[in-house]
Amino acid sequence: MKKNKTSFFCQHCGYMSPKWLGKCPSCSGWNCFAEELISDSDSGSRTEMNFNGKPLPIDDISVEEGSRTVTGIAEIDRVLGGGIVGGSAILIGGEPGIGKSTLMLQMMHNLAGQGLKVLYVSGEESASQIKMRSKRVGAASKDLLVLVEISLEKILEQIKAVSPAIVVIDSIQTVYSGELMSAPGSVGQVRETSSRLILFSKKYGIPVFLVGHVTKDGSIAGPKVLEHMVDTVLYFEGGSAHAYRIIRSIKNRFGPTNEIGVFEMQDKGLKEVPNPSTFFLAERPQNVAGSVVVPSLEGTRPILVEIQALVSATNLGMPRRTAIGVDHNRVSLLVAVLDKICGLHLSGSDIFINVAGGVRVEEPAVDLGVVAAMTSSFMDKPIDAQTVVLGEVGLAGEVRAISQMDVRIKEAARLGFNRCLVPKTNAAQLAKIAKMEVCKISSLKELLENLF
Ligand code: TYD
Ligand code: MG
Repeated sequence: MKKNKTSFFCQHCGYMSPKWLGKCPSCSGWNCFAEELISDSDSGSRTEMNFNGKPLPIDDISVEEGSRTVTGIAEIDRVLGGGIVGGSAILIGGEPGIGKSTLMLQMMHNLAGQGLKVLYVSGEESASQIKMRSKRVGAASKDLLVLVEISLEKILEQIKAVSPAIVVIDSIQTVYSGELMSAPGSVGQVRETSSRLILFSKKYGIPVFLVGHVTKDGSIAGPKVLEHMVDTVLYFEGGSAHAYRIIRSIKNRFGPTNEIGVFEMQDKGLKEVPNPSTFFLAERPQNVAGSVVVPSLEGTRPILVEIQALVSATNLGMPRRTAIGVDHNRVSLLVAVLDKICGLHLSGSDIFINVAGGVRVEEPAVDLGVVAAMTSSFMDKPIDAQTVVLGEVGLAGEVRAISQMDVRIKEAARLGFNRCLVPKTNAAQLAKIAKMEVCKISSLKELLENLF
């Protein structure tokens, strides 16, 4: 009789070790190894795909044109890079309760409306619970098939029988394969079941959406393990405390990354926000110190966000630095540059930075905006409400060029802004835009001269 082989897997990152370890050498997590049975045979799953084993000249490989399926929900199509590519595997990650199932159901409803047969596999809710949700979001169609099942083998059987145009697995953590002994949701199961689903989808050209929960403590095998296996990774941002939801493409083999889609959670499901800049600036206070607008670029789309700063005298020995929506370290760096280069001494002040609306802006192009907001709050002088500021700040206090200046400034002009403070090196390439005064900045000192 064959002996069943086991290995130990880190439940955070999937690192495999033949013996138990206290600390994971890969992700440095403690006490996260669990023993899992690994299937000894190659289980036929990997041989399912027709690898033909011969190299082909790239010119001879044909592409199936028009193999993108447009979902009809513009914000999803955008993050996917123009629709769902045939045979692709898409991971939708996000915290529980953020709206993954709702979005999937709405998307399926739209696709079914186009006459496509779609299959929604759920291991989390009963059929009647799914029906209740579908009533709420208005999803009803005879082409929208619902399967409540958690066994991978049975799911694959049903997909073969039904041969749908799109499959959604909600969620990958509930699916288990009978060939492995470990519990559903463990790294071994998540990896095995998703790799078989992905191979299956590639073989039959059926796109598959895998819904995956990410928990803060990482107690369930996170979708991180899957990121390298799938073609596209979409993550939901914005906590369930906010009404809006942002879905961002972290990885996309068939489109731009960092592209975002913005939705608002309403009582009848998720509603698209086609004009996010207006949405994020809706509650902007006018003529208040510490607030400035920055045209940030998310993927290919410019989005105007408001950066707020509050700089107030501290009575603590170590002043507080809090940054929400921007990189904390970047803020510390900018405070140091302001202190050293501009003689703006913020060392005795608490500093709070917030990007209004709860958006995250990671790119260095917002540096100048953060500096402007801090300076404005520190000096208690409001920045003109029709001015936008953008540029990267270097350690010597120089202002550096940023990418895609044109689209950003156009978006600002479209929303009625009439003055922009931009890096000098960029200004040369900037096409003239009507009613937009361009103010060229090459250092932080020049910023302070021109800001108010
Ligand atoms: P859900 O899609 O179940 O989240 P996930 O699948 O990511 O765990 O979303 C559930 C949340 O959304 C829940 O808090 C209720 C809320 N919601 C609405 O506000 N409106 C709606 O129409 C629906 C269907 C859900
Ligand atoms: Mg769900």
